[in-house]
Amino acid sequence: MFQPVKIAPSILSADFMNLQADIEMIEEGGAGYVHVDVMDGHFVPNLTIGVPHVKQLKKIANIPLDVHLMISNPLEQLPWFLDAGADMVTVHAETLEGQWLDRAIDMIHDAGAQACVALKPNTPVDVIASVIGKLDMVLVMSVEPGFSGQGYIEGSEDKVAQVVAMAREAGHDLLIEVDGGIGVKTVERVCAAGADVIVCGNAVYAADDPKAAIAQIAQLGNDARLAVLD
Ligand code: DX5
Ligand code: ZN
Repeated sequence: MFQPVKIAPSILSADFMNLQADIEMIEEGGAGYVHVDVMDGHFVPNLTIGVPHVKQLKKIANIPLDVHLMISNPLEQLPWFLDAGADMVTVHAETLEGQWLDRAIDMIHDAGAQACVALKPNTPVDVIASVIGKLDMVLVMSVEPGFSGQGYIEGSEDKVAQVVAMAREAGHDLLIEVDGGIGVKTVERVCAAGADVIVCGNAVYAADDPKAAIAQIAQLGNDARLAVLD
C-alpha cells in the first residue's frame, strides 16, 4: 500500500525564541514529526539542546518528537530522553559497538518508544545487519552531522536503496529517514530510492512560506515514490 512521505522539520533551523509558534506552524503545515537535533559538542562539533528542552517540547507538540541523538554516550543518557517524552529515538551506529547497539534498541522499546539507528555518510549499512529486524526506522545521513544548511552529499540515495534491499532480505518493514540538505532539489531522488521520512531544516524554516514548503516537498516526494511504483 502506498504510504505518503512524512516531513520532519528540524527545529535546529527554527527561531529558538519563538519555538512554540514555530512548532504550531509546522503542525498546521502538515508535518509528521518534530525533528529534534541533540548535539553534545563531542560526537559532533556543535552543541545544541538536551533533556530539559525535550521535556518542554513534549508539552507543546501535538505530533511525535523525532529525537536525533548526536551524542557520544547514548546508553547513559537514553533513559533521560525516554523519560522526557521522546517518541522516536535515533542513536548513531558509530557510538555503539556490537551488543551495545542491540541493548540501546531494547532500552528504547522497553520504554514504549520507537527505535531508529543513524548512519553517518561514511558508515556502511552492514553495521545494522544484525539489528535491522527490530528497528522501526533507519536514518541515512546525507550530510556530515553537526550543522544545518549544508549541501546534500551526492549519491546518498544509493545508501537509501541499500537499506531498502537489506530490509527486504530480512523480511522486515521499516521506515527510512534521510537527513541533511534535503529540499525541493533533492527530495525526489531520495524518495524514488525509498525514503519515507524527510528531515528538512533550512528548506522549511528558511523558506518565505514554511507551510507551503512542507506541502511542496511532500508533494514532490510522493510523486517520485509513485513514479517508481508504476
Ligand atoms: C545535521 C542535523 C540535521 C540538520 C538538517 O546534523 O542532523 O537535522 O539540522 O538541516 P538541513 O535540512 O538544513 O540540512
Ligand atoms: Zn537530524
